[in-house]
Amino acid sequence: QKKIYFEGASGIVSSIPVDAQGLENKAIKALSPQAAAYIVGGAGHGDTMRQNRRAFERWRIIPRMLRDVSGRDTSIELFGKKHPYPLLLAPIGVLEMAHPEADLAVAKAAAATGIPYIFSNQASVPMEVCAAAMGQQTRWFQLYWSKSDELVASFVRRAESSGCEAIVVTLDTTLLGWRTQDLELAYLPFLRGMGIAQYTSDPVFRRLLEEPDPTPAPKPKITYDAIRTLWNVIRHYPGSFLENAKSGNPRKAVKKFVDIYTRPSLTWENLAYLREITKLPILLKGILHPDDALKALDHGINGLVISNHGGRQVDGAVGTMDMLPRIAEVVQGRIPLLLDSGVRGGADIFKALALGATAVCLGRPYVYGLALGGSEGVQQVLANYLADFDLTMALAGCRSIVEIGPESVMET
Ligand code: FNR
Repeated sequence: QKKIYFEGASGIVSSIPVDAQGLENKAIKALSPQAAAYIVGGAGHGDTMRQNRRAFERWRIIPRMLRDVSGRDTSIELFGKKHPYPLLLAPIGVLEMAHPEADLAVAKAAAATGIPYIFSNQASVPMEVCAAAMGQQTRWFQLYWSKSDELVASFVRRAESSGCEAIVVTLDTTLLGWRTQDLELAYLPFLRGMGIAQYTSDPVFRRLLEEPDPTPAPKPKITYDAIRTLWNVIRHYPGSFLENAKSGNPRKAVKKFVDIYTRPSLTWENLAYLREITKLPILLKGILHPDDALKALDHGINGLVISNHGGRQVDGAVGTMDMLPRIAEVVQGRIPLLLDSGVRGGADIFKALALGATAVCLGRPYVYGLALGGSEGVQQVLANYLADFDLTMALAGCRSIVEIGPESVMET
C-alpha cells in the first residue's frame, strides 16, 4: 500500500491507471471495438449498470475518530477458511479477447495476491491448467447449468479434482441478455469459438459432439437479415469468415455449445441433483429478491452472490446495493452473502461489508488490467483495490472487518 502511494504521489506513474474510469478508458483504447463492446457493455440502455453505481453512491460512510488504527486486520473467513481480504475475482468468460494468456494470467495474479479466483464455465483456458498454476491458493468453479446433467456432473467432478473449494451456480443467464452493441457488431461470428475451452476439454462434451444431431438444422432461408449479418461478418472479420467456412469441426463444437450451454427450464427442484453429486459448498449467483434468498436457504444452499451480472442481463433491474440490506435482513447471517456488480473502489467494498456482505467480487476492472498488462496488469489492479480498501477502513476508524457494521454507513 505504501509503495503504491509513494510511487504514485512521487510521479512514478504505473501503466495501469489507478482511477476506475481512467482504467476503463485506457482499456477501451487497447481493445478491438468488438471486445470493448462485449466487455464494457451492458444490457439495453445500460440502465442497470448505472443503477449499480447509483446504489453504491446513495450509501455514505461515516468515519469514526481516535480509535488507534495503526494495526489493521483485513482478513475474513469463508466456509471455514481464512482469506487475507474480503475480495474475490468474479468468473468472467471469453477472456482471450482481452489477452492471449486469458484465464491463466488471472489465475497467476490471484495466486500471487492471495485473492480467490472463481473459474468461469466459459473460460478460454481449461480449469486444470489454471489450477496447476495456483498451488494451494483458493479457487472455486462457476457453473452454467447445461441441458445435459451428465455434462454438469462432469464439470463438477473436474472442479473437485482441480481443487476447487465451492461451486457457484450462475442463475441469471438462462438466456443471453439483450446487448445492443453486441447485436450491432456481429458478436457471434467475432467470437468464432472463443471461450469454449472448458467445454472442448471435457470428455462428456466431446462424446456429445460425436452423437448424431437428433434435429438436423433446417436449410437456411436467404432473407434480408441473413445477408446483412453475413455482410457484417465479412466486413469486420474477413479472416474468421474464411476460417469458419473451411473448418467444419470447430463450427460443430460451437454449435453444440450454443445448443446445450444453459437450461432455461431450470427450477429450484434441479438443485437437489447438484447436492447429490457434490459435498462442496454450493452458492447461487444472481440472487436479487429476498424471497429467492429464503428459498435458497430452504434448499440447503451454502452461500449467495447478490449480482445482476454487472448489468448485462436485465436492463432496468435493481442495483445490487439496493437489495443487499433487504437480503441480509432475511438471511440473518445464516449463510455468507457475496456481492458484485459495480464495485469500483475500496469504499464500495467497505459499504457492502457494512450492509452485511462477507466479501465482494470484482468483475470488469481486473479484465481491464488483463487487457493492459496481462498477469502483471491484473496484479496491479488488485493491489490498488486492496490498498484503497485498507486505507478506507483505517480512515473510517475500523481496525478489523468485524468493526465494519450498519452504524458505519447511512443511506442518503
Ligand atoms: C461476466 N460475468 C460472468 N458471470 C458468470 O457467472 N460467468 C461468466 O462466464 C461471466 N462472464 C462475464 C463476461 C464479462 C465480459 C463480464 C463483464 C461479466 C459476470 C461477472 O461474474 C460479474 O457478475 C460482473 O462482472 C460484476 O460486475 P462488474 O464488477 O463487472 O460491474
